[in-house]
Amino acid sequence: MLSLNNLHITADNKEIVKGVTLNVPAGEVHVIMGPNGSGKSTLANTIMGHPKYTVTTGTITFNNKDITQARPDERARAGLFLSMQYPPSIAGVTISQFLRAAYNATHTPAFSVMEFNKVLREKIDELEIDRSFIKRNINEGFSGGEKKRIEILQLLVLEPRFAILDETDSGLDVDALKVVMDGVKQFATPKRGVFIITHYARLLEFLKPNAVHIMREGNIVRTDGAELALEIEKKGFEK
Ligand SMILES: Nc1ncnc2c1ncn2[C@@H]1O[C@H](COP(=O)(O)OP(=O)(O)OP(=O)(O)O)[C@@H](O)[C@H]1O
Ligand SMILES: [Mg+2]
Repeated sequence: MLSLNNLHITADNKEIVKGVTLNVPAGEVHVIMGPNGSGKSTLANTIMGHPKYTVTTGTITFNNKDITQARPDERARAGLFLSMQYPPSIAGVTISQFLRAAYNATHTPAFSVMEFNKVLREKIDELEIDRSFIKRNINEGFSGGEKKRIEILQLLVLEPRFAILDETDSGLDVDALKVVMDGVKQFATPKRGVFIITHYARLLEFLKPNAVHIMREGNIVRTDGAELALEIEKKGFEK
């Protein structure tokens, strides 16, 4: 579903990702772990088309279509979704306005206000988020954990085909982690793909990834089954 082929990425003329090749078939959940600064977020942001990053060599293919040079909105329409490591706040735009605009830009037929509000309320209740958040400006004054829950709310409302989650499990209390991971499990049906960047093997308590990749200095240096995450937690990256 998502294929990265010999991907090299630079930012400000510095090469950060140095030849990553990776395939995530439909129905699979892949995890990426790696030391701070190894290039995980760079990879995630580039897959979504962040303008700060340049692909100098290699390709990104999504559902057999080359999207290496596509605009972020084209990627979103094709079904890609990114939950950012540091979600920005947007003054003057409420969660409800933002999500309805994003939904209608990526789906046909569009929802009416009433239809959309019904779906939004359903999902917000599922994620045990207080309904008052609907009217709040995106991420303005939100706690770290609240921001992460709102990312999963976006995932469940927008129903993309492929989700990239960049440390969505970081900074969550134990109960919030369960709610968020239940959301991810609900999302991960056989026709969809998931790519999870994390620092914690505790994720394995909630779902079993098909593969764990270790990224180091801009490369994938090892790929193995779910047990690799536990090994890393025990022994660290050096070994
Ligand atoms: N725009 C940029 N200009 C210069 N250097 C950058 C830029 N963006 C990222 N980098 C550098 O690239 C490296 C990889 O950063 P990245 O955010 O991808 O790491 P990461 O693996 O996600 O780390 P973490 O686990 O801490 O989130 C870092 O050394 C970072 O400083
Ligand atoms: Mg990162």
